[in-house]
Amino acid sequence: MDSSSPAASESARASFSRHWKTACSSFVLGCLLAITLQVFFFSPISPDPLELPRPSSSAPFLPTNSLLQKVTKLGEGFLKNPEDVCVDKEGILYTATRDGWIKRLHRNESKWEDWRFIEDTDTLLGITVTAAGTLIVCDTEKGLLEVGEDGVTVLASHVNGTKIRFADDVIEASDGNLYFSVASTKFGLHDWYLDMLEAKPHGQLLKYDPSLNMTSIVIDGLCFANGVALSTDKDFLVVCETWKFRCLKHWLNGEHKGKTEIFIDNLPGGPDNINVAPDGSFWIALLELTSSGFEFVHTSKASKHVLATFPKLLKRITGMHKKAMVVNVATNGKIIRNFDDPKGEVMSFVTSAVEFEDHLYLGSLNSNFIGKLPLNAIA
Ligand SMILES: *[C@@H]1O[C@H](CO)[C@@H](O)[C@H](O)[C@H]1NC(C)=O
Ligand SMILES: *[C@@H]1O[C@H](CO)[C@@H](O)[C@H](O)[C@H]1NC(C)=O
Ligand SMILES: *[C@@H]1O[C@H](CO)[C@@H](O)[C@H](O)[C@H]1NC(C)=O
Repeated sequence: MDSSSPAASESARASFSRHWKTACSSFVLGCLLAITLQVFFFSPISPDPLELPRPSSSAPFLPTNSLLQKVTKLGEGFLKNPEDVCVDKEGILYTATRDGWIKRLHRNESKWEDWRFIEDTDTLLGITVTAAGTLIVCDTEKGLLEVGEDGVTVLASHVNGTKIRFADDVIEASDGNLYFSVASTKFGLHDWYLDMLEAKPHGQLLKYDPSLNMTSIVIDGLCFANGVALSTDKDFLVVCETWKFRCLKHWLNGEHKGKTEIFIDNLPGGPDNINVAPDGSFWIALLELTSSGFEFVHTSKASKHVLATFPKLLKRITGMHKKAMVVNVATNGKIIRNFDDPKGEVMSFVTSAVEFEDHLYLGSLNSNFIGKLPLNAIA
């Protein structure tokens, strides 16, 4: 039989419960401390605030529409996340897919051709065709690649003694030099979100001179250097700085040669790829960096550390998978028109827009097709 009095057992229970509570709160405190240490001392980033664009009375954002939903889907199911698109003189369309292929589509054909296999990799981004008809591709692992009949040649893998880690987009200038962006010298392709959270200028614009077989730094300290385009008169380049919501103009010829100025800023999304249109204007694909309601993340260091440590949370916060935006910008840096898919119902994460024969060809990191939009049939 139990000899203890009910009062004694009551006090034993109270004491046990007290100890239990203390143990629990110590455990919780310990966990919090561990998480805090993990988040702040072992965080892979040292963040700066990222300033989001704001519409102003002099530069209001254009109203959102759903015109991008009018695309027809080319190569659906056959093109894995085609990030960029280019067209050669014969009108053949090329794209680099995230399974290591360069695929192409001949005029008036509906079937895409598996043209060249680079290797089993998801690291191919920007693509361009030179005046001589050679295909150039950015590989975030290997650098700048030339893809020809005889196979693949690495044109540039190092600059100033450092390995090129995140080649992003490329264009040929009139003198045959290849200008290409490096999104980040600190973080690689799969850690792009750390570069966004850190919001520091780790990007570069590089130049590969084929006559000297030499690569040099043209502009250093860009905030995620992304798309690169050449003006119709070949006098200047435009390079996009995604985390700054702006594009820079870099003069190659004329009285301002070598100078860099702002081409357009305060864009309503982070600019990704840029391409010149036949009329001399530019098409820029914009990324929605933040879902609405999560803007604070970009100014809160604590949130940035937490997200850098627990990246699974990030998909809720960024808006790339929810929206697509493309803007047409005149040579004077004014937005002419915009095409959107506000909820990404047909296309989201649109990363490039190329105009060819009155159609816009759209690449995306969240689609298995290329969108084709008839420009004459829509506003
Ligand atoms: C493609 O089709 C268009 C119209 O259907 C035609 O005008 C053009 O000549 C064709 N091009 C080729 C290369 O077959
Ligand atoms: C090139 O490398 C040298 C030595 O490593 C360094 O001092 C210099 O700052 C680098 N230049 C640029 C533009 O990064
Ligand atoms: C270009 O230079 C790289 C090293 O910087 C070298 O490996 C490569 O063979 C050179 N290419 C040509 C065509 O000379």
